[in-house]
Amino acid sequence: MSRPIRFLLDGEVRELRDIDPTLTVLNLLRYDLRRTGTKEGCAEGDCGACTVVLGELAADGAVTFRAVNACILFAPMLDGRALFTVESLKKDGAPHPVQQAMVANHASQCGFCTPGFVMSLYAHQRSGAPTDSASLKDALAGNLCRCTGYGPILAAGQAMGDDPDAGAAADALAVALAAIQPDDGLEIEHRGRRFLAPRTAAAFAAAVQQYPDATVLAGGTDVGLWVTKQHRDLTTVISANEVAELRRIDDLGDAIRIGAGVRYTDAFSALSDLHPEFGELLRRLGGLQVRNAGTICGNIANGSPIGDMPPALIAAGASLVLRKGAATRTMPLDAYFLAYGQQDRAPGEFVEAVIVPRVPAGRVFRLYKLSKRFDQDISAVCAGISIGVADGRVTDARIAFGGMAATPKRAAACEAALTGQPWIEATVRAAAEALANDFQPIDDMRASAAYRLAAARNLIVRAWLESGAASAPTRVLDAQAVAHG
Ligand SMILES: Cc1cc2nc3c(=O)[nH]c(=O)nc-3n(C[C@H](O)[C@H](O)[C@H](O)COP(=O)(O)OP(=O)(O)OC[C@H]3O[C@@H](n4cnc5c(N)ncnc54)[C@H](O)[C@@H]3O)c2cc1C
Ligand code: FES
Ligand code: FES
Repeated sequence: MSRPIRFLLDGEVRELRDIDPTLTVLNLLRYDLRRTGTKEGCAEGDCGACTVVLGELAADGAVTFRAVNACILFAPMLDGRALFTVESLKKDGAPHPVQQAMVANHASQCGFCTPGFVMSLYAHQRSGAPTDSASLKDALAGNLCRCTGYGPILAAGQAMGDDPDAGAAADALAVALAAIQPDDGLEIEHRGRRFLAPRTAAAFAAAVQQYPDATVLAGGTDVGLWVTKQHRDLTTVISANEVAELRRIDDLGDAIRIGAGVRYTDAFSALSDLHPEFGELLRRLGGLQVRNAGTICGNIANGSPIGDMPPALIAAGASLVLRKGAATRTMPLDAYFLAYGQQDRAPGEFVEAVIVPRVPAGRVFRLYKLSKRFDQDISAVCAGISIGVADGRVTDARIAFGGMAATPKRAAACEAALTGQPWIEATVRAAAEALANDFQPIDDMRASAAYRLAAARNLIVRAWLESGAASAPTRVLDAQAVAHG
């Protein structure tokens, strides 16, 4: 091991030497540091019982705070960061204002979920985020309570007040974090397992090339589960998390370039600026803890047929930048997905960035996610629909679906049925029917094949209705207006 992992816990510098690099922060806390306030509910990022808060030094020198799931976070990912657990909150023996608000509002319920709720509220308070009900619901969507006591928890969030540690204490934290920023990358060797966290894109590219069978690690919201649920032995892991160049979003004028290390939360405003539909989709991707760790490029790289970003980005006309050593190549995003579990990525190559064009004004652009739960649920069907219309005719169409095939896939027959045709109901219904030529979806626990096809057809029709092209009273509000004259 080149040097120890160094992080802050309650203001003290902690060093970890000779540890298993895939040890989760949850197990580190509970078994090694005996901090048992952080609970294990699911060990797969779903329930929020293990929520802890990470403080991170931003490029401008300020500290950012994010709630993350400790159960799927590997211990080396603490390097250079400040960790806060529920035990960190007590000051001079007194509960923290967040804890006091929980007690005062009768929101302290079972001992499994409560620490996680407290930590999500703590992160929210430290970030200075608004405490209106909608913002708090977004912040708490990754914390599940089985006794249905969300009301008092939301009330506690509204009553918790401002961050008592803003100001001098936050400045001191920034100084302490600056003092532990490493100059060099992390290299851990432990009982046949290797973990590399280079700090430059060139070093990262060289490492991926040197170890073509290694697991590339971004946020770990998929990879973490390989360890906790599938008990896979990851012999070499190469982390993209410490490479500042990969954490950038660049404005290219007519497009934005999102680097491999950019998390959902960090991409939220840039993508929402391209089109508000991206913001609505991102809000429903996982819970906040997942969006605070997971990356857009990880969602693409894993090649899942049910990832939410690929259909949306394919519809937007995105392209993917792959890199091997110093050589890069760029391809249309849909060309990356070859077959189930198979992507167009050579050994030693990695996804460096995704380039997303701006959505031209006047285009019909809709992103739809259908899942059983509104928040924190995987899609049964996800659709990205982008249609150009001029003089009442469809000029071009880019339509992609997730959950309908073995890969995220464009609906070529549906697109062909639309292109050049008048933007009227008959065209749209014919295009929706053509989806049967594009997809033969499967039955699984999320949805039946019949449901998937029917839902996909309805989404095409819905995009047309929502484009304002329909004259019929189709919405509930329209129907009420008609009924009440
Ligand atoms: C509770 C929970 C809820 C979730 N909800 C959703 C959801 O609603 N919608 C959804 O689409 N997904 C969801 N996911 C899945 C997951 O969050 C996403 O797929 C996420 O984007 C993965 O990104 P990551 O950075 O965490 O990737 P990681 O877990 O680090 O990596 C994922 C895969 O991509 C590879 N990889 C990562 N980066 C690169 C790179 N730059 N180059 C090459 N290979 C790379 C890894 O080797 C691995 O195979 C959820 C996950 C959890 C745990
Ligand atoms: S234990 Fe459930 S999210 Fe971590
Ligand atoms: S607080 Fe644990 S089930 Fe509700």
